[in-house]
Amino acid sequence: MGHARTGKLIEPRGDNAALLAIKAALGNPYHFASWTPDYTCCDWYDVDYDDSIGRVVGLSVFQDGNIMGTIPDVIAGLVHLQSLMWHHLPGISGPIPPAIAKLSNLSSLTISWNAISGPVSSFLGVLTKLTFLDLSFNSLTGTIPTSLAAIPNLSIINLSHTRLTGSIPPRLLSKSADQIYLWLSHNNLSGTLPAEFAAANFSHLNLSRNRFTGNAPGLFGRGKELQYKETKISP
Ligand SMILES: *[C@@H]1O[C@H](CO)[C@@H](O)[C@H](O)[C@H]1NC(C)=O
Ligand SMILES: *[C@@H]1O[C@H](CO)[C@@H](O)[C@H](O)[C@H]1NC(C)=O
Ligand SMILES: *[C@@H]1O[C@H](CO)[C@@H](O)[C@H](O)[C@H]1NC(C)=O
Ligand SMILES: *[C@@H]1O[C@H](CO)[C@@H](O)[C@H](O)[C@H]1NC(C)=O
Ligand SMILES: *[C@@H]1O[C@H](CO)[C@@H](O)[C@H](O)[C@H]1NC(C)=O
Ligand SMILES: *[C@@H]1O[C@H](CO)[C@@H](O)[C@H](O)[C@H]1NC(C)=O
Repeated sequence: MGHARTGKLIEPRGDNAALLAIKAALGNPYHFASWTPDYTCCDWYDVDYDDSIGRVVGLSVFQDGNIMGTIPDVIAGLVHLQSLMWHHLPGISGPIPPAIAKLSNLSSLTISWNAISGPVSSFLGVLTKLTFLDLSFNSLTGTIPTSLAAIPNLSIINLSHTRLTGSIPPRLLSKSADQIYLWLSHNNLSGTLPAEFAAANFSHLNLSRNRFTGNAPGLFGRGKELQYKETKISP
């Protein structure tokens, strides 16, 4: 197979097979009709192919109520992925699969607006290149794992509308980021805010609709992007 593009013969090693395995695991929904062995995966819907390395680096599956099942373990076969999105897929349920931890080059992970349940698994902490994590609008339960604090450059986090409990782990925020975006609204989070919040440079912070307590020194009067409404935090 393989076809010529920019003068090179393209046959992504293993990526076609991994994508076809994902399609099969989901029962071959129409959404993936363009994923056929007749074409190389650089032309497939939802697939981001990087010509310079000849591999699939992005997969964005979104907005389709007819895709049913769980996020397939065979996703682990897309070893070069840097960006992965499962968004607005109400038929996608089950837990976040541990296979995602094998995608060590991921910098952006979005699993939002689905019916995903189970915990925000601590194995996500091995994805040390993550800068963006959006798990919002799911049915996740349990606490925010402390392992996320081991990800050095994680600076955009959206865990809003996910039914989480417990407190915010210390050092969750990136130490190096110029700008931090954190959405935690509509959970059942509690406890006090980590001390480092006082010095963090938030571009957006939304803690609304939780059960936080105590003071948030340094956070108030910094601009209208910071939203605490309906928490028990007082300035
Ligand atoms: C991961 O990224 C690094 C740096 O961009 C690259 O050298 C390496 O080949 C990538 N590994 C995989 C499995 O894509
Ligand atoms: C984190 O960001 C710094 C500065 O941009 C970079 O040098 C470093 O390699 C990044 N670390 C990881 C694990 O991606
Ligand atoms: C995170 O979720 C909030 C809604 O709670 C939304 O306004 C925001 O755009 C989301 N951010 C990202 C980066 O997805
Ligand atoms: C804080 O963020 C603003 C933009 O929101 C940026 O202009 C500024 O340089 C940042 N400051 C620091 C100390 O990173
Ligand atoms: C939040 O947690 C408290 C204490 O565990 C519980 O009583 C309450 O029902 C929870 N609220 C929601 C909306 O889940
Ligand atoms: C923060 O959450 C509240 C409550 O859901 C919402 O009204 C507000 O628009 C949110 N702000 C941002 C910046 O997302």
